[in-house]
Amino acid sequence: MFQDYFTDKEYENAFIEFGGARKKIAEKVRELSNIEEGVILDLLSGHGLLSAEMAQCFPKSRILGIGLHNDVLSFKQVLKSDIFPQKTWTYFHYLACNATSLPIRSATCDIVTNFLGLEDLHMTSGRSGVERTIDEVERVSKKDALIQISYVDYGISPTEVLTKEIWDSIGLNAIFYEREEYLRMFEERLFYPLEEFKIVIKKKMTPNQAKAELMFACEEAPILFSNFGVKSITFDDLWSKFGERLEKYGMAFWSQIQVIILSKT
Ligand SMILES: C[S@@+](CC[C@H](N)C(=O)[O-])C[C@H]1O[C@@H](n2cnc3c(N)ncnc32)[C@H](O)[C@@H]1O
Repeated sequence: MFQDYFTDKEYENAFIEFGGARKKIAEKVRELSNIEEGVILDLLSGHGLLSAEMAQCFPKSRILGIGLHNDVLSFKQVLKSDIFPQKTWTYFHYLACNATSLPIRSATCDIVTNFLGLEDLHMTSGRSGVERTIDEVERVSKKDALIQISYVDYGISPTEVLTKEIWDSIGLNAIFYEREEYLRMFEERLFYPLEEFKIVIKKKMTPNQAKAELMFACEEAPILFSNFGVKSITFDDLWSKFGERLEKYGMAFWSQIQVIILSKT
């Protein structure tokens, strides 16, 4: 499944580019929605990169990005950069808040999107926080709203098996659930799937790139999310457990992104 390692140059931009995944998601949502001047909520918006793709596809709609205080700083860097034309941000508002309690009136949003944040939501808020957030999505969305979620489903290649083992052992508790679990949570709140597709990222991280990623995860994430009591094992412990296999197989970069678009009844 993997064709190659990222070069260091490609890896520098890998998170921003993500194989065009955010654009593909925004275009698919555009295809399924007939709104023009609506309200779109980008949940767990982070740097605001999916929000920007949504803004390009829905130029007359208001886009609300939701993230923690740290995320606002990352967003400001994207805002100041030339990654997107400045007009992208005309109707964009970043709301610094916890996704488990949204400062948005009920039945406001026509579309709710999400690009790979559900594992971080589990890290900061646990299973009950994920449930509360989905309750909030139900509350703030209009009837017939479209809800798009994405999560990673690692495959069976040695690199992917290793990558899943690493994220499961690191201690951060940043985990994705299985498809059935997400569907159950949404169907309980009367959201039904309309469309599903997969985006495959074919390149993987070299052992050195993986080392940098994992050092950040072990050393910085517990600091960034200290308010939420996030902890990890030490990088040395992680490397002594997985280093040899990482040198051999490299590490997957969120290899198989599963996207589900649901409709609210
Ligand atoms: C993987 S990033 C999201 C990536 C982003 N959607 C994109 O398009 O690049 C997940 C984000 O969720 C944020 N996050 C974690 N827990 C949160 C919570 N309880 N409420 C709001 N944001 C949260 C993290 O700070 C992080 O920036």
